[in-house]
Amino acid sequence: MRVCVIGTGYVGLVTGACLSHIGHDVICVDNNEEKVKLMKAGRSPIFEPGLSEIMQSAIEAGRIQFTTDIAAGVAHGEILFIAVGTPPLPTGESDTRYVEAVARSIGTHLNGGYKVIVNKSTVPIGSGDWVRMIVLDGIAERQKTLVTPGAGASEQKLPVSDADFDVVSNPEFLREGSAVYDTFNPDRIVLGGNSTRATDLMKKLYAPIVERQFAEDKSLPQVPVLVTDLSSAEMIKYAANAFLATKISFVNEVANICDRVGADVTQVAKGIGLDSRIGNKFLQAGIGWGGSCFPKDVSALVHTADDYGYEAQLLKSAVSVNQRQRLIALEKLQQALKILKGKTVGLLGLTFKPDTDDMRDAPALNLIEQLNRLGAKVKAYDPIVSQSGMRDGLSGVLVETDPERLADGCDALVLVTDWKQFSSLDYGKMAKLMVNPVMIDGRNFLDPETMVRAGFKYIGVGRSSR
Ligand code: NAD
Ligand code: UDX
Repeated sequence: MRVCVIGTGYVGLVTGACLSHIGHDVICVDNNEEKVKLMKAGRSPIFEPGLSEIMQSAIEAGRIQFTTDIAAGVAHGEILFIAVGTPPLPTGESDTRYVEAVARSIGTHLNGGYKVIVNKSTVPIGSGDWVRMIVLDGIAERQKTLVTPGAGASEQKLPVSDADFDVVSNPEFLREGSAVYDTFNPDRIVLGGNSTRATDLMKKLYAPIVERQFAEDKSLPQVPVLVTDLSSAEMIKYAANAFLATKISFVNEVANICDRVGADVTQVAKGIGLDSRIGNKFLQAGIGWGGSCFPKDVSALVHTADDYGYEAQLLKSAVSVNQRQRLIALEKLQQALKILKGKTVGLLGLTFKPDTDDMRDAPALNLIEQLNRLGAKVKAYDPIVSQSGMRDGLSGVLVETDPERLADGCDALVLVTDWKQFSSLDYGKMAKLMVNPVMIDGRNFLDPETMVRAGFKYIGVGRSSR
């Protein structure tokens, strides 16, 4: 099928590359010329395991193109994905201006033939109908230019009432760091819309994935496809993220109580997670949730509830537990070192989770800001950030090139991101290079006994029994 993906960031590029990998003919549109130049050369502008490989094979197979020309993308696609960002406004609402610009632009370029316009961006509930309205506005604007003498009067005129398109909400559930895997192995596909013609086309698009042709375990039953109305699909996305974020805040709260009563949250999480009604995922206590989705999506849902006269108390609490949790490492540093002014703190990891280069709303940023405020010197080592030279938003931190240089002269280390390689560093050597070998394990990632043997005073989150 012919597909156009507009907005090729973490979601759009993965979607476009994976759809071309399963056999579709894809045009990816982005208005960032630098990104498009990189992608045309077969290079991914983001770090995401497996993405460059499938991009390159799709380019070689001639099934993917990259352009800044939205008109070409709209003309090409029978399915048009909107996958631009919906960042948070200072009020907590979602900023939908990029979705609006793309929807309008689709309208102004819509040509003959039926099209499905797919909201892949996470958008406020009610956006499906709103996008439809904006596309119709775009068509009307184009018609005005068509009647202006000399302005392309020869182009085909499309009456607004006959515009042949439907809007579908197809929320995305991929996780950064395993985005390609998640796309080929989804737990479900959600399609919101009120046109069977549109949802049937979407089912056809996803059929190879639904049938597990590209799954790691091909013997699994088909991927469930849930067809709902537009608003329910939009709500499913927010509710899923809000539930997962709340689950983490819950375990973080339990961890804080564990710290006080002398229990170990990792054992507690195991014990409750074995109950199939609870499940063992997303019960890893630590320095809180961050990233480009949980914080903004929970806040947007709280805001929507407020708009409709309902106070989402549980979700507000999940947010406030998280705000406190994101500074738990600072509390533990103060307990261990007392005065932080003049001390040197080394951060192991900067990104909001491993296997991504994404720094959006990373807990490390809060920690750096507060350590700077208290007069501590901050150094950091991150497997991706240290290599890539990306330093946006990283003022007040010296980025080191390897973990041993990081440890040298530090009064304490804080493990901020659970990068796999941090499980096998030469901690014995690192402890010897430090002024004061304290390890605050912000992700309960390291083995406490091993760290003590390496010479560290080990402090986890909710592991005070250790
Ligand atoms: P992103 O910021 O990484 O990418 C957005 C892209 O859109 C950028 O490349 C930007 O240049 C481009 N863009 C902006 N305006 C444009 C325009 N007018 N025309 C063409 N391109 C334009 O965003 P993202 O992280 O990929 O998120 C996209 C959406 O998906 C958001 O709504 C987000 O909430 C949702 N989402 C994200 C994730 C995730 O893990 N990042 C997961 C699920 C859902
Ligand atoms: C999340 C959702 O999982 C995904 O379905 C959605 O599409 C986008 O948002 P992502 O932000 O990529 O994905 O990462 P995720 O693995 O969910 O982690 C989010 C944050 O929670 C990270 O900061 C992570 O460190 C933290 N986390 C996660 C915990 O603190 N404990 C856990 O047990 C799990």
